[in-house]
Amino acid sequence: MHFCPEIFVAFVHLVANPFIAPMKILVTAGPTREAIDPVRYLTNRSSGKMGYAIAAAAVHAGHRVLLVSGPTALDVPEGVDFIPVETAAEMYDAVARYLPKMDAAVFAAAVADYTPAAPADQKMKKSGDTLTLDLVKTKDILGSARSPIGFTGFLVGFAAETENLEANARIKLEKKGCDLVIANDVSRSDIGFDSHENEALLVFPDRSELFPKAPKHDLAMFLVSMLGE
Ligand code: PMT
Repeated sequence: MHFCPEIFVAFVHLVANPFIAPMKILVTAGPTREAIDPVRYLTNRSSGKMGYAIAAAAVHAGHRVLLVSGPTALDVPEGVDFIPVETAAEMYDAVARYLPKMDAAVFAAAVADYTPAAPADQKMKKSGDTLTLDLVKTKDILGSARSPIGFTGFLVGFAAETENLEANARIKLEKKGCDLVIANDVSRSDIGFDSHENEALLVFPDRSELFPKAPKHDLAMFLVSMLGE
């Protein structure tokens, strides 16, 4: 059967259910910034739109939401508890502190996988023709959710892929102990990073489902309707 986001969203608006059991949901969003020196950093193209849409949809559905976000230009959705962070290490610390109290978590942030090993205290001066930066791995926040953080609730990860969407997402699902991984093709400019719309492959342990291209808000509402199922 073909899934139609417009009909689903109209349905959710109609039945905005006053009888749902409210959950505590943690959402990560946005990019991280990893300092090279006091004026330069490594980051990525995440705008935060996907994660903020999920946080807003979850509050709209009657849940209590904690949004842990890297720097974005977005307004914090009304009714959402908010922890702003800058680096992957700060995001890890905030998530590790609050995740054990949550019923569900959605990791939409684009967290840096590597950070400069020794950020300079002063602005780095121009010198040779090339510059080599030593980077060290950051902690995998989603990959730490089950252990060592000990989260037992419904766990949703994202997979930002440019190829082999389903296979790569399924590896993340299994390795990181997720209940669902939302895979998006970030090689496309009309979806994924910094666009208003997304198209996603929803990868569950026993099946995969395509969510066709639609506003991020629609994907967010669909996702929230599945949390805890
Ligand atoms: O912010 P937008 O402009 O709206 O764009 C949305 C998005 C493209 C950023 C979003 O839809 C998305 O795909 N988010 C995940 C981006 C990502 O970093 O994917 P990944 O495949 O590298 O990471 C897999 C998962 O591990 C993600 O849930 C990520 O949040 C998490 N992760 C990754 C590294 C790390 N150190 N800690 C993590 O928790």
